[in-house]
Amino acid sequence: MTPDNPSRRSRRKEVLRELGLGPLWRARAPMGPSAAQDTIAPAFPADAIAGRVAAIRSMDWSELEASVAACTACGLCRSRTHTVFGVGDRRADWLCVGEGPGAEEDARGEPFVGPSGRLLDNMLAAVGLMRGRGVYIANIVKCRPPGNRNPAPDEMEQCAPYLARQIELIQPRLIVTLGRIAAQNLLHTDASIASLRGRLHRHAGIPVIVTYHPAYLLRTLADKAKVWEDLCFARSTMQDLMPAG
Ligand code: URA
Repeated sequence: MTPDNPSRRSRRKEVLRELGLGPLWRARAPMGPSAAQDTIAPAFPADAIAGRVAAIRSMDWSELEASVAACTACGLCRSRTHTVFGVGDRRADWLCVGEGPGAEEDARGEPFVGPSGRLLDNMLAAVGLMRGRGVYIANIVKCRPPGNRNPAPDEMEQCAPYLARQIELIQPRLIVTLGRIAAQNLLHTDASIASLRGRLHRHAGIPVIVTYHPAYLLRTLADKAKVWEDLCFARSTMQDLMPAG
C-alpha cells in the first residue's frame, strides 16, 4: 500500500476542501461498536465527488437550500456576497434557466433582479406569465462570477448537481434557457444560440426551448423580434404539453 505521508494527507485535505466536501471519512474495515478513530481514513476525491453528487440527489428543498448557502465547492464562494439559489413556484410548469448572478443578484440573493431581470419579467408577462406563478427561475451557477465573466467549466461542473436536483424536484413541463451558457450547458453542446433556436431540445427528458439572454437583448434590441418568436414557440409548446381538458 502507498505510505500515507503527511504531505499527501494535507494535499488530499486541500483537494476535499476545494471541492466543498469538508471532512469526509471512509471505514478501512467494517466499523464495530468500539471502532477507534485510527481505523478510518479520508476518502479519495473520486469517491468523494460521487458521494457529493449522490448526497445532493437525495436532498429535499430545505437541505438543498442549506447546502447551496454553505457551498465552497469552487472558487466563486470566495468573492460572493450571497448565493443565489433560485426563486419561484416549486411546482412550476415553466423553468427559466439563466447563466449566473450579476451584481444586484449577488447583493440580494435572488436571480434576475437587475436590469435583465426587469426585462425577463416583461418577457414572461408577454406570454401571460409571472415570476413565482407557475414559473421557477434558476441559474447554471449559484454564485456571481467576478466582474460578470462567464462561469468557468469547473465552476459549472461543481454547481451542476444543484440545478439537476432543482429540476428533479420541480419536474417542469418545459425549460427555457436564457443565453448561450445555459443552452450549451444543459444541452451539452457547443452550438450557437442562433442554430439552436426554433427547435425543441431535451434535457433529462424534459423539453427545452432556447432563447437569447435578456442582458444580450438590452444591448441588441434588433433581436427582440426573435425572442418574441421564441416565446410564442414556448407558449404553443406548453399548450401542447398540457393535458387536454
Ligand atoms: N443574469 C443571469 O444569467 N442570471 C441572473 O440571475 C441575473 C443575470
